[in-house]
Amino acid sequence: MTASPAGILKTIGELSVDEFMQRHWQRKPLLARAALPGFESPVSPETLREMASRDDVQSRLIARRGERWTLEQGPFEQLPSRRRAGWTVLVNGLDRHLDAAHALLRRFRFLPDARLDDLMASYATDGGGVGPHADSYDVFLLQAHGQRRWRVAPPNDGSLVPGAPVKLLARFAPTQEWLLGPGDMLYVPPGWGHEGTAAGECITLSIGFRAPSRHEFLSAFLAASADNPGGSDPRFSDRGRVASHQPGALPPDLVTQLQGWASDWRPRRSDIERFIGCYLTEPAPDVWFEGAGRMHSLAQFTTQARRRGVVLDRRTRMAWRGTQVFINGEPCDTAPHERAPLRALANARELSAARLGTVLQHPALVQRLHAWSRDGWLHLGTVQATGR
Ligand code: SIN
Ligand code: CO
Repeated sequence: MTASPAGILKTIGELSVDEFMQRHWQRKPLLARAALPGFESPVSPETLREMASRDDVQSRLIARRGERWTLEQGPFEQLPSRRRAGWTVLVNGLDRHLDAAHALLRRFRFLPDARLDDLMASYATDGGGVGPHADSYDVFLLQAHGQRRWRVAPPNDGSLVPGAPVKLLARFAPTQEWLLGPGDMLYVPPGWGHEGTAAGECITLSIGFRAPSRHEFLSAFLAASADNPGGSDPRFSDRGRVASHQPGALPPDLVTQLQGWASDWRPRRSDIERFIGCYLTEPAPDVWFEGAGRMHSLAQFTTQARRRGVVLDRRTRMAWRGTQVFINGEPCDTAPHERAPLRALANARELSAARLGTVLQHPALVQRLHAWSRDGWLHLGTVQATGR
């Protein structure tokens, strides 16, 4: 058995993560009081306000006046006053911007990285919330600051209030209700109705998951296959056609040819597997890597990496399957000696100096790590030293 990377949660409330996975994951909600021992919020109300003003951060402002809801997209030069009740600002992708938020998300790596999405924060004034809704994804709602009342309802037909700018369940019949304080956490499975209402000023963190739908996956796969058709690309031709008397009719030979191309199309298994690895490690849509500022030469990089180790950038997505390794949407053809260290890097998100000492004699691996550091995908140091 391989040891899990340090810091990953071992319990959710009174349950071990194994028990949680068997009894609650994708099945039913769970409230865990004081879920993360020693928990401290990775973000303050002031930092969230500042983040909501930035154009490289995705944010939304939701407010309610009686039955009327409003939704505005950020960035926000000015948010409503803290004294005004009933508004919420949501800030997405906190883990991509703050090391402390990324460290918190990493604690949930008892689920595969390919399922973990991001850490969203919501700041609300008294009475604020986004209304009763259901999400298509699992979510852990971790109370970071102040208090929020949550009500949950089993899945129903999911019909929505027509015309509202936010998704509001038309029918919401809560069966359970809790008041959460700092460190308390509520797990909500996909499809379950939930509504959180701030009891005074508060911050809630949402640890969100991703799960592709068939349609999303196939449209991405078909688009990628169309961009890279591979092999020969025959074109329709109709030498010997007789003159047409009904030019508006679709020519049967053309239809048959196109039908044949569509029904004979069989992507190779290896191409599908390669695509899956790339698809599941594609960086989040708002991520772009700047590359390293001051560049180390290969020799300098090797010396430094031997001394300090290497750590993945917090925005990097890396995964492996069998002999294949994928990073930030790109496949890597690996030599046998590279596989163990690259798998270890994907699992731990770092390679310690001690580990690197034994593998850095392989020029291909060093060149690969050096190229990734040039792209800004990894850095010198360790998770502990850099906080990444
Ligand atoms: C919130 O924190 O206000 C919304 C989070 C959610 O319901 O998923
Ligand atoms: Co929700």
